[in-house]
Amino acid sequence: MQESREQWGSKMGFLLAAIGSAVGLGNIWRFPYVVYSNGGGAFLIPYFCAIFTAGIPLLILEYGIGHKFKGSTPLSLSRVNKKFEWLGWWPIISSAIILCYYSMILSWSVKYLTLSFNKGWGQDSDTFFYNDFLKLSESPLHFGGIVWPILMGIALIWIINWFICYKGIKAGIEKASKILLPCLLIIMIIIVIRGVTLKGAEVGLNTLFTPNLEKIKDPQVWISAYGQVFFSLSIGTGIMMTYSSYLPPKTDINNSAFMTAFANCGFEFLSAIGVFAILGAMATSQGVSVDEVVTSGIGLAFIAFPKVFTIMGVWGNILGVLFFTCLMFAGITSSVSLVEAISASIIDKFGLKRKKVVTIMCLVGFLISTVFATNAGLYLLDIMDNFINNYGIVVVGLLESFVIGWVLNPNVIRDHTNAISYFKIGKWWNIIIKYITPTLLTLTLIQSLITEFKTPYGGYTLTSLFLFGWSVIAFGIICAVLISKKPWKKEAL
Ligand code: PHE
Repeated sequence: MQESREQWGSKMGFLLAAIGSAVGLGNIWRFPYVVYSNGGGAFLIPYFCAIFTAGIPLLILEYGIGHKFKGSTPLSLSRVNKKFEWLGWWPIISSAIILCYYSMILSWSVKYLTLSFNKGWGQDSDTFFYNDFLKLSESPLHFGGIVWPILMGIALIWIINWFICYKGIKAGIEKASKILLPCLLIIMIIIVIRGVTLKGAEVGLNTLFTPNLEKIKDPQVWISAYGQVFFSLSIGTGIMMTYSSYLPPKTDINNSAFMTAFANCGFEFLSAIGVFAILGAMATSQGVSVDEVVTSGIGLAFIAFPKVFTIMGVWGNILGVLFFTCLMFAGITSSVSLVEAISASIIDKFGLKRKKVVTIMCLVGFLISTVFATNAGLYLLDIMDNFINNYGIVVVGLLESFVIGWVLNPNVIRDHTNAISYFKIGKWWNIIIKYITPTLLTLTLIQSLITEFKTPYGGYTLTSLFLFGWSVIAFGIICAVLISKKPWKKEAL
């Protein structure tokens, strides 16, 4: 075992960092739209099912493995069983890819933050976003050139990532989370209070929460629920294992898992309420229905919202600045967690120094991210995000539950976490990990595959989906297997 493994300064610090990773762009732009398009209030049924049958049990599992085996994700998994080291590398590679497109969205947020002071997107936020700002090409295969303002934003994000991770766990990540997360919460509460007191807010909230029970029968809705919960809780990406490996020996793991899930869930609701209250107000003021002002994920933050801010007068400027600051703060704590999961694995595997690894990684990461600063960036993001979420992360979750449930024995993890936790988890957890999570995730996966083959994602050509979707998944698995063949330096095992 390595002796000099860093530790969090306090359990609170760990919790804030874990919540910081979970609360991200997914909570603010993804969740509200996912709820709305999947049956409104009725979506809450599959959503809570996903939280209790996969989210929390897997969080306990990931925290438990990381804490018991005290290593980055690949190291911990190879300590569980050498044969499964590759399963620790796959999420790390997925994280690297997520990180590159995540930095692009963050770069947009930075730009929009500066624009919101004078509503620089003008009257037509739609055209501004696609044509003037992204200069979007006609298809994913037409890269065009580099869009410099986006590249500069990406560089800034990588510098911030570097700055925080370079300083390490306690002085870097823990400190940043302690500052950013409370600020984020305060800003979000201001947005929500202002949002719900606007005229017409209730129309938005009704649209959001009115249940369309028919939708629950649609398997696609269940897939979205599991996808959202995985992405939102940062499960299956190696982060939670890495973070819990920095905890001192006696820490209440079970309680931390529940706290992380509930805090994330609470934040998700808070932002959905804020977003829909504001959309309701705008629909009312224009005399149209809310359905006409809602657009999909990215469009919500970068098209619909700017439009609302434009018609709002000075409150539009204030809310604009607050909203994009929120996106930035939420995104930075998440992107830092991705950097940490990756660098911790490299540090463990090759026995290198943190500062060197973080510096080289941020430089390489920045270079790879330039692909997203081309005219095809948005398409690449869209395709990769879909494939990594539906197939990458969910399959890792499935395999983790299989390895612990069937190869290791769930009692090993449960006994470990129960021994140090005030709140004990019962045998139900074994049943969930052994039978329920794998079954539900397999069904979800089969259903996504069927849908994928029936209607290729997003109307893209098969070549694009093959190049930027399927190949990315295959690349992740192949690299994972290859890296796991290399021996560990530093006698890590
Ligand atoms: N959980 C983050 C969010 O909701 C996203 C994320 C996913 C971060 C995976 C890290 C890893 O936006």
